[in-house]
Amino acid sequence: MWRGLRTALLRGGFTVDGVSALLGSTARAALDRGETTPARRAVRDAGDAGTFVRLFLLGDTLPRADVAAALEPVAVVDAVTAGLLSEEDGLVTAALDLRPHGDAALPAAPPWWVLSDLEVGPALRTAGREHVLGTGAASLSLARATVRRPVGTLLDVGTGCGVQVLHASGHAEHLTATDVSERALAMARATFALSGIGAEVLPGPWLEPVAGRRFDQIVSNPPFVPGPPQVEHVYRDAGLGGDGASALLVGALPAHLTEGGVAQLLASWLITSEDWTERPQAWLAEAARSAAPGGLDAWVVQRDVADPALHVGTWLRDAGVDPASPEGTELSERWLDFLAAEGVHAVGFGFVTLRRTAPDVPGTVVCEDLRQSHDDPLGPEIEAWLDRTAWLARHPGEALLDVRLRVPDTVALERGLVSTDEGWEPVAATLVRLDGPQWRHDVDELGVALLAGCRGYLPLRDLVGLLAVAHGRDADELAEAALPVVRDLVHHGMLVPAP
Ligand SMILES: C[S@@+](CC[C@H](N)C(=O)[O-])C[C@H]1O[C@@H](n2cnc3c(N)ncnc32)[C@H](O)[C@@H]1O
Repeated sequence: MWRGLRTALLRGGFTVDGVSALLGSTARAALDRGETTPARRAVRDAGDAGTFVRLFLLGDTLPRADVAAALEPVAVVDAVTAGLLSEEDGLVTAALDLRPHGDAALPAAPPWWVLSDLEVGPALRTAGREHVLGTGAASLSLARATVRRPVGTLLDVGTGCGVQVLHASGHAEHLTATDVSERALAMARATFALSGIGAEVLPGPWLEPVAGRRFDQIVSNPPFVPGPPQVEHVYRDAGLGGDGASALLVGALPAHLTEGGVAQLLASWLITSEDWTERPQAWLAEAARSAAPGGLDAWVVQRDVADPALHVGTWLRDAGVDPASPEGTELSERWLDFLAAEGVHAVGFGFVTLRRTAPDVPGTVVCEDLRQSHDDPLGPEIEAWLDRTAWLARHPGEALLDVRLRVPDTVALERGLVSTDEGWEPVAATLVRLDGPQWRHDVDELGVALLAGCRGYLPLRDLVGLLAVAHGRDADELAEAALPVVRDLVHHGMLVPAP
């Protein structure tokens, strides 16, 4: 049925490019705002393509004969039996969400489609416990953060509608998808068949379906939302209480990585003290044990922090519950009581990247905030972070002093000035990356002078020596002070090894 439908969708031009061409930018933008009329007008005379757009993107009810013509070679009755459509009195409506999907990072859009439960705007979600999410903001943020280097094997834990597997199909040879929900796995199988992608699909919770197996790459957008220990919605709640899903996966994933393998997941952590990294650090200790005898590189990036009220309100609305309704009030009370009992004053959210290193390579663990807004996808930055971390591991301690470093063109020095009786006086200098995550580092005047010398000609040791003479300082002391700063700047791509 799904392969036949692929034929029909391709013939009808119901693809990312086909729909874009059909709608044009104005109707597309209107549709993205939830205004369907311009799109309906745009596809009025578009034949089968128009039928698909109206059926699946606009939620229209259409005459059986129109739908039958578009679906050929699939019979309407088979599509109804498969749960894709519903039919009453010769009129047909979509019963599931089916839409073309693409990857902006790929030069040519492969014909992909994603099947999921119907969702007519977040507020209207009538999610049952097993509701299978379509491609949402979180799914896309993980896809944009995923490292896309060629690998042999890739595992997607909690595949849902299967969207991460689609994005991985361009760089991974063998794809494995797991989920605890049979309904999700049925959608994922349909997504893969429609998209012409072969993937191993395994039922079961967490890592149980892949016990004893290792993968070159693992991705997961798990039910990471911290809440009471019960499952209202399987896409959102792990049922483990608090941040149990993130703790479990961070701790257990390294044992399933090959040497050099990388795991990436969305995660959320309860913040119960001044230091948000406390809980992720504790999970990483477990992760290091599970990576043994290999080492562990880990990068935890906090993208967002919400107070408990914001956290609960956001996720209730996401599930279509008005927090002020009687149901919302009861759920909020229970959820906030749970968080209060756990001593939670905020909930953090972000990306976790884990790499299992060779046994003799010392691991690097970094937890940091990345809450500044930026548009670039995180994937290339994560790839670069992994490379820089490996490079730094090969240049431990004072070995860094023998390297020639360069400030890349994408880095600028910003100076703050204050007005004084003597005119504008400099008060602060900040090194800023103009691309990627737009990292910023405050630097003192000695740092500014050192960085000015980082043109790739002289090793750091010589630059520090010259600076020590110029400022009457001890070269060893200066080197000791400079090394951690230089390491941080290399980590953030603000100093790079000269070729
Ligand atoms: C947020 S959805 C992510 C779906 C999809 N991977 C994406 O990126 O959009 C989380 C998925 O995890 C699944 N899930 C929930 N609990 C799980 C468990 N214990 N083990 C494996 N998967 C689970 C849900 O069924 C759901 O499909």
